Amino acid sequence: MKTQVLKIDEDSLALAKWIIEGGGVVAMPTETVYGLGANAFDTAAVERIFEIKGRPNDNPLIVHIHKDYDISTLVEDVPEYAKLLAKAFLPGPLTMVYESKGTVSKAVSCGLDTLAIRIPSHEGAQKFLKFVNLPIAAPSANVSKHVSPTTAEHVFTDLNGKIELILDGGKSEGGIESTILDCTGDFPVILRSGLITREMIAQVAGECGEYVYKDGMRALAPGMKYKHYSPNCRTVLFDFNELEKAVKLYKEESGNGARVYLLCDDKTSKEAKVENVLNLGKDENAIASNLYLKLREGENIADLIIAVAPEKQDGVMVGVMNRLTKACR
Ligand code: TXA
Ligand code: MG
Repeated sequence: MKTQVLKIDEDSLALAKWIIEGGGVVAMPTETVYGLGANAFDTAAVERIFEIKGRPNDNPLIVHIHKDYDISTLVEDVPEYAKLLAKAFLPGPLTMVYESKGTVSKAVSCGLDTLAIRIPSHEGAQKFLKFVNLPIAAPSANVSKHVSPTTAEHVFTDLNGKIELILDGGKSEGGIESTILDCTGDFPVILRSGLITREMIAQVAGECGEYVYKDGMRALAPGMKYKHYSPNCRTVLFDFNELEKAVKLYKEESGNGARVYLLCDDKTSKEAKVENVLNLGKDENAIASNLYLKLREGENIADLIIAVAPEKQDGVMVGVMNRLTKACR
């Protein structure tokens, strides 16, 4: 199969619609990472997503809709706090989990009676979703366990020959996946952290819980228990106050002939004074935006990536550290 990469315009949208209506899959940009989309009503199409990615079949998908789509056709009652949150943050990088109405294919939620809904803010994503006017089930558009894609080129690297079309909407500026919020209880609970932080949610909803997955527990967001986000080279992660140790390892490994790169924020890169650096940038939004980009850049040039955690660990960095820890495991 030939994989086309096309900028978003009338022609590529018409092709995308034709593919989706015919039961195929299309990669689309979003403001977080690229998604691999299929018609959520079409079981065979949804199953193709799992096949293409090599995704475990107990890891449910998020359904993406355009901003005017009638959500009441997909899910049961939306609680008052969820309405407030939707008003404050949508369209945007926040996925909300509700009781499902059971109207989309059962394959989407892998047998759960809930459904995760996301209204992305990316202009290209909105155009595509509006054009097809269907709920689109979409995981990140990478091969399962690999680093999530933030450019059309990343998607091409992973899925060339496996899908027909990649809609190219430029770099995903957010850079890490959406915050997932359980909205089935009396108050919202974060299942996966992201750019919409616990503090931001609590400010609107009054309170916000956070679910922390530990090995052996029943995972509320089943995807959280799997190995994830891993580059195709050795990785190791040091705490922000372990820079000396990190530099020592850098020198040892370089001395042994390995191509070693230090992955860290701008401040640490200045302190480290080593030659090969994958610089994540200065502030938390830059670091999130560049994380997957730099991990993918790194795997192409390094035998070993030595990551050093940024000092700041709250807010957006909760989501960044969650990904970085998994990437370096
Ligand atoms: O930013 C994003 O969310 C990106 C873009 C493409 O929208 N999508 C994404 O999808 O990250 P994926 O499949 O890589 O991650 C989906 C996560 C998984 O951890 C999955 O277990 C969880 O969402 N999930 C999906 N449906 C769920 C449900 N009904 N209840 C709890 N967790 C759910
Ligand atoms: Mg993913």
